[in-house]
Amino acid sequence: MSAEIVPDTTGIEPVPGAAKPDPVLTVTDVRKSFGGVIAVDVERLEVQRGSITAMIGPNGAGKTTLFNVLTGFERANHGTWSFDGRPIHELSAHRVARLGMVRTFQLTRALARMSVLDNMRLAATGQRGERFWSALTRSRWQAQETEVTERARELLDRVDLADKADDYAGTLSGGQRKLLELARALMVDPQLVMLDEPTAGVNPVLVESLLGHITALRDEGRTVVFVEHDMDVVQTISDWVVVLAEGAVIAEGRHGDCIANPAVIDAYLGTRFAERERAASGDGRSGDPT
Ligand SMILES: Nc1ncnc2c1ncn2[C@@H]1O[C@H](COP(=O)(O)OP(=O)(O)O)[C@@H](O)[C@H]1O
Ligand SMILES: [Mg+2]
Repeated sequence: MSAEIVPDTTGIEPVPGAAKPDPVLTVTDVRKSFGGVIAVDVERLEVQRGSITAMIGPNGAGKTTLFNVLTGFERANHGTWSFDGRPIHELSAHRVARLGMVRTFQLTRALARMSVLDNMRLAATGQRGERFWSALTRSRWQAQETEVTERARELLDRVDLADKADDYAGTLSGGQRKLLELARALMVDPQLVMLDEPTAGVNPVLVESLLGHITALRDEGRTVVFVEHDMDVVQTISDWVVVLAEGAVIAEGRHGDCIANPAVIDAYLGTRFAERERAASGDGRSGDPT
């Protein structure tokens, strides 16, 4: 087994907006509203380079919107943010991706009708932008194509989907789709990967495998931010936890800091525990989806 490279978080104060020793992403005063609803209102957030940061919080807290805004898929009303020391708040999504910061996307219906391999190839072109591709000469275009296909196959092999390359993506199981989404994000060799609920709807065996892949990303020097509802998963793989509620960061710290924080219990964990109890007594929704 390879040695785990766990970033040292002992010197970091567990407070909202805490400064990190070597932040790869810094966010200042970001606000996003939809009509009258303020979805995101983050005063300050720093993400430590080379760490796995879990983002938790109730439904509607603004986690997905924050991901979309930071990666350029949605425009903020206000705010600035930098990736690797460079302001990126005015850049389009594909330029942000080319700099090395990507988020995963759920397999859409259109993508489900394409092969797994074509999904991977499209992830490379989609992130590069049309102009890049139309500027290539035919021979350079073919060289790029070959390179892209090779990388796609390597990554499919890495997430154990190599034998599915020619299948329609729509035939994959829930867990395999999540692996494909992860592999798609890796096509641009990103430095920072943002995963929105990577384990949702995934059976326990594939969750193990997904967590292994996420940890491997950190161990090869990448930074991971992921949204997660399962606190056992959060405890197992995250170095740092950020708690969002009503659009704002209400707490930050190691797992232990956050679960002991009354504000977090109030805003989030209390309801999660109540949901679990209900499920356990057979009153709520049934257990794990497969
Ligand atoms: N496209 C949209 N149009 C209108 N309201 C939205 C849109 N996307 C998100 N919202 C609202 O913004 C808030 C935050 O949503 P979201 O970012 O999806 O939260 P989370 O991912 O934490 O569950 C919610 O109140 C949600 O209803
Ligand atoms: Mg969400």
